[in-house]
Amino acid sequence: MRIVDIIDKKKKNHELSKSEIETLLHGYLDGTVPDYQMSSFLMAVYFNNMTTDELAHFTITMRDSGDTIFFDNLNSYLVDKHSTGGVGDKVTVVLGPILSALGMATTKLSGKGLGHTGGTIDKFESIKNFEFSTTKEELMDIAGKTGIGLMGYSDKIVPLDKKIYALRDVTATVDSIPLIASSIMSKKLAIQSNLIILDVKVGDGAFMKTIEEARELSRRMVEIGNAVGRKTMAVLTNMDEPLGFNIGNANEIIEGIEALKGNWATDLKEIVYEIVYLALKYKGEVKTFDEASKKIDKVIESGKALKALKEFIQLSGGNGEIVNNYSLLPTPNETLIVTSDKEGYVSKIKAEEIGKAAMVIGAGRATKDDIINHAVGIKLNKKVGDFVREGEILAKIYYNNNENILSSKNMVLKSYIIKKEKPKKINNILEIIE
Ligand code: URA
Repeated sequence: MRIVDIIDKKKKNHELSKSEIETLLHGYLDGTVPDYQMSSFLMAVYFNNMTTDELAHFTITMRDSGDTIFFDNLNSYLVDKHSTGGVGDKVTVVLGPILSALGMATTKLSGKGLGHTGGTIDKFESIKNFEFSTTKEELMDIAGKTGIGLMGYSDKIVPLDKKIYALRDVTATVDSIPLIASSIMSKKLAIQSNLIILDVKVGDGAFMKTIEEARELSRRMVEIGNAVGRKTMAVLTNMDEPLGFNIGNANEIIEGIEALKGNWATDLKEIVYEIVYLALKYKGEVKTFDEASKKIDKVIESGKALKALKEFIQLSGGNGEIVNNYSLLPTPNETLIVTSDKEGYVSKIKAEEIGKAAMVIGAGRATKDDIINHAVGIKLNKKVGDFVREGEILAKIYYNNNENILSSKNMVLKSYIIKKEKPKKINNILEIIE
């Protein structure tokens, strides 16, 4: 079977067989298929899409290019919640401890932030000496003791995705929905779970800018999950403003801890409660949102969820006392206040712009080798729907002697869209695709 014939078949929009997909991908992994042929194939996929079967074979072959992780020591219900990436997204920090306190476990690979979006690894690494598990054994040990099994991506997991993603990046094929779906799902399927919940962010600060694109991506990912027998669902959530009040790293950890003490930002609460409800429903423990809500309230009020987070931090090398003493976290030494230049209602906060404003003062990375400053970040004083007077504080930037502070301030100001009319109440949960 010649590679050129496989590419030609895809170009003519004929369905590829499992063995044709395997030949192409195995060849690319071992170096016998060159970049120029793979590029051509990716572009053919970009224009001609993939059928359900093609997508499943493509994803499974990707997954099987590296290690898979099983949790033999855990007999609880395993939930892998994945976010497609947002601004101020600290859902994992809060969700893991709640699922654990409810007798379930989180098993997932977490990422680092890049560009305007943050990453769970960076948030936890704000905690001095905290280190994510680097071996399966360590991951299983911590997950077994705390119900929180978070691990950073390693080169051993789906190495083919890394190679193909780098090629997509330089061949204008990143924004292909089947390629995004298979890239994400190959990594999800490499780690054992009973349920995959995809938090697909929609809006200005998200990868998917429109609900239609988000729906299509969700549908394709759920389709892959179904094809391989892994229960998968997608929750489409709003990213037309940052999630919660804080954007950064240490400040997002604090916001997460506060949520576990019952002090929630409304949007964060809605999303976390919905995801926990879906997990409990699929586990077969509740039928209604109200039942789930009561269970969550209970583990927050009793301090059980907070205790799980403290244990997780401690077993990962950090000082668990940070849950009560925020001065143990890195702190910024300067603050700049951003005030409104007009009066009206906040109708939108461009999340991408805010993410970039945080990135330029060091809270995020412009390129993957940049070193971040965990102490710095932005706190929003006003959220969508709030009324603001001229001169009133919109946000505060916390920084350490940074030359980009004024451009950061301008970006924050520009991201606030203030209008005379009160905006309609936004739904944080836009849609659920099962
Ligand atoms: N995230 C991934 O893991 N892969 C993509 O292709 C896009 C986003």
